[in-house]
Amino acid sequence: MAFDIVGDIVILKPPLKYPPEEYVKKILEKHKFVRVILLQQTDVQPPYRVPEYKVLWGENRTETIHKEFGLKFKVDVVRTYYSPRLSNERYRIAKMIGDGERVLVMFAGVNPYAIYIVKFARPKVVYSIELNPFAVKYGLENVEINKVQNKIITILGDVRKVPPLISLFGNKSGYIHSEETYILDTLSSGIVLNLSVIEPCADYRIQELYDKIPAGKKYIVTNNIGSLENPYKYNGFVRIDRNKFYVYNFNENVVEEYKLFGEMFDRIIMPLPREADTFLDVAIPLIKENGIIHLYQFMFEDEIPEKANEILDKYASLLGFEYKILNIKKVGDIAPRQYRVCIDFEITKKDC
Ligand SMILES: C[S@@+](CC[C@H](N)C(=O)[O-])C[C@H]1O[C@@H](n2cnc3c(N)ncnc32)[C@H](O)[C@@H]1O
Repeated sequence: MAFDIVGDIVILKPPLKYPPEEYVKKILEKHKFVRVILLQQTDVQPPYRVPEYKVLWGENRTETIHKEFGLKFKVDVVRTYYSPRLSNERYRIAKMIGDGERVLVMFAGVNPYAIYIVKFARPKVVYSIELNPFAVKYGLENVEINKVQNKIITILGDVRKVPPLISLFGNKSGYIHSEETYILDTLSSGIVLNLSVIEPCADYRIQELYDKIPAGKKYIVTNNIGSLENPYKYNGFVRIDRNKFYVYNFNENVVEEYKLFGEMFDRIIMPLPREADTFLDVAIPLIKENGIIHLYQFMFEDEIPEKANEILDKYASLLGFEYKILNIKKVGDIAPRQYRVCIDFEITKKDC
């Protein structure tokens, strides 16, 4: 019987050999603390990588607090990705971080990597970027619960959109893109941002939805402010020009200048196994020479280690870098002879 325990919630994974009630009975006999039992109905679904579930037994609740390695993670298992099976891997990564490193965690979920890193190492700062507004909301809460507020900057948004403007974002800020369902999710998550950067959109309904997102300051991205109908309802706008971007604040009548992509990172963690490699074009401009990337991928037993070289060779010639693989670590199986692996590699030379 395959199941995960997240806090006091049990997630039963198909295929089931017997009727579900038999599993419920066995689980309850053995684990007295369990309050909810869910049956996983699907594989993880895009964009937030959360499966669908059916409630088999227990309270009408999907939020819980999970404890591992002395840390606490608040999650809602139907709204946010969380795997208790990756705890050893998070610890392995944290123990590799050198003193004073600048670390970027892409696809950050409810912030487990960032929190492990700050608890078990001494980085200078950890940036987390996550698309799912519900996950970011829990991620911010988890930073507080584990008392690591002063080193983690949690940013809501797409890994493709945030990095060019990363020096503008502080903790609790985000880039909200103009897809309607995304804005609605951001609204229903209840997250309140200190600062939000938004994309212009010709659809007035989308503009109206944007206006409902609570945020201390709101900027719109545009290189042609004259083309917008009513820009003054925002605090200002962001204009991108070659390798710089400029922030125009309407009220204060000041312009701030920033370098696109900001300061580079010593280490980048990319835990999105199905497609993390397709984001290497984002990671490479952000990593220092001699910096380290931890790239997660799914691989069959007989593809290890050749596929790792194949993937990295392809991107090295496309993006212009040289690399050295430090380790290829199997991080649990996902099917017979198929594994989640982490490729730890160093960028030995960059042309870009
Ligand atoms: C496999 S989960 C990993 C979450 C977390 N790192 C962990 O280990 O629990 C991948 C996460 O990436 C997020 N994600 C997917 N595409 C993204 C994108 N383009 N930009 C930012 N986050 C993204 C999903 O919402 C999901 O939370």
